Amino acid sequence: MNKAKRKAVIAGNWKMNKTPAEAKELLSAVAPLVKDADCEVIACVPFVDLQTALETTEGTNVKIGAENCHWAESGAFTGEISAPMLASMGVEYVVLGHSERRQYFGETDETVNKRTKAALASGLKPIVCVGELLWERECNITEEVIARQIKLDLWDVTEDELKNVIIAYEPVWAIGTGKTATAEQAEEVCAFIRATVAKLYNQAAADALTIQYGGSMNDGNAEELLSKENVDGGLIGGASLVAEKFAAIVAAASK
Ligand code: PGA
Repeated sequence: MNKAKRKAVIAGNWKMNKTPAEAKELLSAVAPLVKDADCEVIACVPFVDLQTALETTEGTNVKIGAENCHWAESGAFTGEISAPMLASMGVEYVVLGHSERRQYFGETDETVNKRTKAALASGLKPIVCVGELLWERECNITEEVIARQIKLDLWDVTEDELKNVIIAYEPVWAIGTGKTATAEQAEEVCAFIRATVAKLYNQAAADALTIQYGGSMNDGNAEELLSKENVDGGLIGGASLVAEKFAAIVAAASK
């Protein structure tokens, strides 16, 4: 992290976990533990938990995000949720292009880009996820894959809009597997993402961009990962479901 240059952000990604009652319980436990955080704290929760999450965290420093949004404002898209719908509730963030969406629900860089632009147009702050598959890393094309995702996902996003974007680097092989990228691997790719953004925009825009690492980040490895210059925070899956573990990661980011 380089807090002199940019905001440190720890975001939980609950995935398909927690009923509204359970969400209330978890966030009621998290909020007092992170109240003195020296970083942004976000919980990205299932759609049905959003209202409860917003109510439970009202008046605290915990911000609420959704886990996806559609690119259209409204219309015949059964089962989808639009960015204006989320914004109207008071939701601030939205995870987009998560590898599970890409892997299981046919998300492509084109749809991630459309969703990103729709989110920004509604005043939401997208957390755009990129990351390579294991075999792509083994074939030594991690940088090509990441550069392509960054270019396509941020296509037509203006420099001004970029100020509201967070990039999450999540190597697919590290998600939910217990295999964390080493701090050096995370730093290498996060630095590469910043260099790519510098080429697409400019150095100042790249320096101001928050880039998170995600993939089995937990209370045991967060401090080392976050000690790296270009790792500005974390997108936390499994460990965000346990208040004490999530709070410990927030504490590591607050040092
Ligand atoms: P994990 O998930 O922390 O459980 O690996 C991270 C993510 O998918 O955002």
